[in-house]
Amino acid sequence: MTHALAFHGGTPVIDLPLPHVPWPLVDDVTIAAVTTQLLTATSIPDRSGVIADLEDRLAEYFGVRYAVLASSGTAALHSAYAALGLGDGDEVIVPAYTFHATATPLFHLRARPVLVDCDLLGNIDPKMVEAAITPATKAIVVTHMWGVPAQLERLVAIADSHGLDLVEDGSHAHGATYDGRKVGSFGKAAAFSMNGPKPLSAGEGGFVLTDDEETYYRTLLHGQYNKRCRTEIPKDHPLSAYAVTGMGLKLRIHPLAAALASDQLDHLDARLVGRRRIADRMLADLRDVPGLGIPEVPDGIEPSWYALALTLDVAEIGVDPGIALRALHAEGLLEIDQPGSTRPMNEHALFSRPEGLFPQVGGDWPRYREGQFPNAERLHRTTVKFPVPHDDGPVADGYVRGITKVLTHAHLLQEDL
Ligand SMILES: Cc1ncc(COP(=O)(O)O)c(C=O)c1O
Repeated sequence: MTHALAFHGGTPVIDLPLPHVPWPLVDDVTIAAVTTQLLTATSIPDRSGVIADLEDRLAEYFGVRYAVLASSGTAALHSAYAALGLGDGDEVIVPAYTFHATATPLFHLRARPVLVDCDLLGNIDPKMVEAAITPATKAIVVTHMWGVPAQLERLVAIADSHGLDLVEDGSHAHGATYDGRKVGSFGKAAAFSMNGPKPLSAGEGGFVLTDDEETYYRTLLHGQYNKRCRTEIPKDHPLSAYAVTGMGLKLRIHPLAAALASDQLDHLDARLVGRRRIADRMLADLRDVPGLGIPEVPDGIEPSWYALALTLDVAEIGVDPGIALRALHAEGLLEIDQPGSTRPMNEHALFSRPEGLFPQVGGDWPRYREGQFPNAERLHRTTVKFPVPHDDGPVADGYVRGITKVLTHAHLLQEDL
């Protein structure tokens, strides 16, 4: 019975304490950095100390002129959209398949998210972007799903040829590259989350990137009012009149979170190299497993592998992905999950009935509903994902063995139906 599935009482492939992929990684140097910050400054209203240092390092890392830290990725997206002047009635093309915060700040600006279906990697499909452009379109938003860069060359060309702003949500993809260039440097603005499991983690935090001076000043005015705006927006600039109040929101990162992120940034590239090596090995080992779809990453792309997303071919394995997931968990692969809140956004009440929370949304709202985004919906129903370790150890090989075991014996699961 060595091959008996653990789901049926067999021996699990691994029995490892959680978390299997701890993140962010904290060592003595991290603790010293955060403790030093605690004793130095816990409120930084201007651009100084750890805030200035980290922003300078982020701007250099991504190869852009400006970085502005924020309290979260959601806040960073909100500030970026406000800074680009998106507002009343403007249509903004967003991926149908993403975490909802990619789009939800647009409701607060009275701009209108227009959902567009995805390609096989879960990234917004440039063909469908082009078809969704109308005279009211002002911007295109792209998320690099699970850390695999989207089709940027085509998206940049579409945005340029229609005079639209491209905005990148890089929350899964810190350090991922497209044709050798870091994602986050392709759009007019980019926003990144640095919450818990993100490739660059502050625990909670985010940032905006831009090369554009006006977008930079407006990002500051949206979420970093008073001292920072007063010291950074030149007195002779027309926007300096608003420096004290800004747009009224305060979305600063906590300095302790900035200290944590700064420590993590020291290791980001080395850890990405490790993740890529392990992800490549796992994908090679999993390539021929029956019923399993692996991401086919095009040449010229270096993912950050925020997560390895695999698809289950329901017809071939003969059971619902939820049952396969239970069998994978039984084998001890406890960090595999089916994405929950990251799902086709047409399935959220906010996108089908926004008026319950945003009464100002007009009667011509498209009333998104299930079935409208077949690629996103199919991908979502069939995807399982897990975090990728950056170093050798029992996790990567155990996950490969467990996935292989469950899928090569999936026919046995059918008997439980
Ligand atoms: C693609 C994407 N965008 C935005 C966000 C929001 O970031 P935060 O949780 O830092 O507000 C997340 C967070 O999970 C995300 O995955």
